[in-house]
Amino acid sequence: RSVSLIGVPTDIGAGERGASMGPEALRVADLTKALRSHGVDVVDRGNLSGPPNPWLPPVDGYRHLSEVVAWNQVTHDAIYAELKAGRMPIMLGGDHCLGIGSVSAVARHCRDTGKKLRILWLDAHADFNTSKLTPSGNVHGMPVACLCGFGPQELIEIGGQVPAISPKWVRQIGIRSVDAGEKRFVHEQDLEVFDMRYIDEMGMRHTMELALATLDANTHLHVSFDVDFLDPSIAPGVGTTVPGGPTYREAHLCMEMIANTGYMGSLDIVELNPALDLQNRTAKVSVDLIESLFGKSTLMRK
Ligand code: ARG
Ligand code: MN
Ligand code: MN
Ligand code: MN
Repeated sequence: RSVSLIGVPTDIGAGERGASMGPEALRVADLTKALRSHGVDVVDRGNLSGPPNPWLPPVDGYRHLSEVVAWNQVTHDAIYAELKAGRMPIMLGGDHCLGIGSVSAVARHCRDTGKKLRILWLDAHADFNTSKLTPSGNVHGMPVACLCGFGPQELIEIGGQVPAISPKWVRQIGIRSVDAGEKRFVHEQDLEVFDMRYIDEMGMRHTMELALATLDANTHLHVSFDVDFLDPSIAPGVGTTVPGGPTYREAHLCMEMIANTGYMGSLDIVELNPALDLQNRTAKVSVDLIESLFGKSTLMRK
């Protein structure tokens, strides 16, 4: 397996500064070495660049829209190029608005190659707001809606086709914070959400069996891992922590079950904010989990 790491050092879509330092925190936590220890061929492409964060209030329901577009355009281009070259891109965010560029590139690659796309959205939030529904104007709360065609033209058309994806391709796991209007919209669009209530009642194993049920040998599985998915007690280094998330054990099982499918073709790691952390704990636990995502297990498997 050949992996390319692509750093996207920006917090342009967030409500708090600091996710721009996420890529470096993951490098400091030795992500490359950890992946190599599992036999992965890793190339670190370094960081993309884009406009600085002017830290202005929202305009017409969007904060920093033109800068968000610029960052997502370069993200799309870089990820699309890696996929075209037959490599697996790992996007090191950056805030979750970058999922627009990343997933729209993956969707384009799937159209080129006739692959079926499935997206696992590991998150405390549904990220399904629009400019009308958002309480904050922060675009990191809108990427899933934009990908499904609900958003500003400049953002929804980045991958060359609108909508980039169908809500039917998405499975959301770990959700526990959805805004009032967003809730109605999730229902209306019939997004498949496995919220914390579901995980509490049915367990992570059953949840993941369902979330992964429709994959087959022709599937490209994209994993969009927002670090706020994790319980804040193990991952305090994020701007939008929500209590009551998956434990260390539950999160590992989730990653192991994804690894066992063998279909993961691309990955985002987003919202890591080392400014809010102590001793880079959240980056370290993220690297641990990524190892499981790439097949780390205690004993030999199969
Ligand atoms: N729902 C809130 C909002 O739209 C929070 C979104 C948080 N998103 C994230 N990717 N961390 O402002
Ligand atoms: Mn491919
Ligand atoms: Mn989130
Ligand atoms: Mn998110």
